[in-house]
Amino acid sequence: MGGDGRPIGVFDSGMGGLTVLRALAARLPHERFVYLGDTARLPYGTKSAETVQAYALQATQLLVGEGVKMVVIACNTASAVALAVLQESWDPVPVIGVIEPGAAAGVAATKNKRIAVLATESTVQGRAYARAIQRLMADADVVQQPCQVFVALAEEGWAETPATLATAKHYLEPLFDGDDAPDTLVLGCTHFPVLANAIRRTVGTNIALVDSAETTAAAVADALEDAGAASAGPASNASIRFFATDSPERFARVGAIFLGREIAVDDVELVDLRKA
Ligand code: DGL
Repeated sequence: MGGDGRPIGVFDSGMGGLTVLRALAARLPHERFVYLGDTARLPYGTKSAETVQAYALQATQLLVGEGVKMVVIACNTASAVALAVLQESWDPVPVIGVIEPGAAAGVAATKNKRIAVLATESTVQGRAYARAIQRLMADADVVQQPCQVFVALAEEGWAETPATLATAKHYLEPLFDGDDAPDTLVLGCTHFPVLANAIRRTVGTNIALVDSAETTAAAVADALEDAGAASAGPASNASIRFFATDSPERFARVGAIFLGREIAVDDVELVDLRKA
């Protein structure tokens, strides 16, 4: 044993952030994790910045109370509107969001400097991705498309149903029409990676599909290293504690779609963030 054995806190509006947790656990097998899904208040993606900031502060407070050494905002909407507030409020606990890593993945993938971003309404409205991409590539063209419907389809586990394919066609075909179309699509919502096959079938194989899970895991690994805060414990195959603000049964059932493995209901603790 040795190093910093405290867990890493991860939160999302619901289960979508489990796609990020999956990448974190694979990348950091020596770390322990505490995951919070604010399922009672999902979706964040249609709510105002003020509301999401208030929710994100309560979520972070719970994680900090659990003794985490770092907080990962595994939600694009909360990262877009609350990252700075959380970093300021919880200093010195480092807080990492998914927008910058997702933007970096998009910039690394594009060849024609045209990048499309598919996200929730609030993420699109705040233009956080466009700003993060243009900070890295000033002359990039960024087209944003809100697609809140995908959140519900992903939670139904409708990865490639006719309804999902029709939705993908409706939102994506106009974006990739014409010679000056983007060559890269950033999945700017943590729910969307489970719909990657339907999206791929719609946009074709010439478009680079990127999401922030892997790049966020890399950013967290770097931050731990820089802070000398990596755990030196044995690789545990990821010990994870789950908290949800609504039905543990639904969290376990639907969460398995996003985490890519079973979640035992008994491993999910119900919490009330209004008391955090
Ligand atoms: N987790 C949210 C995000 O990544 C999507 C779900 C929601 O709208 O709360 O933006």
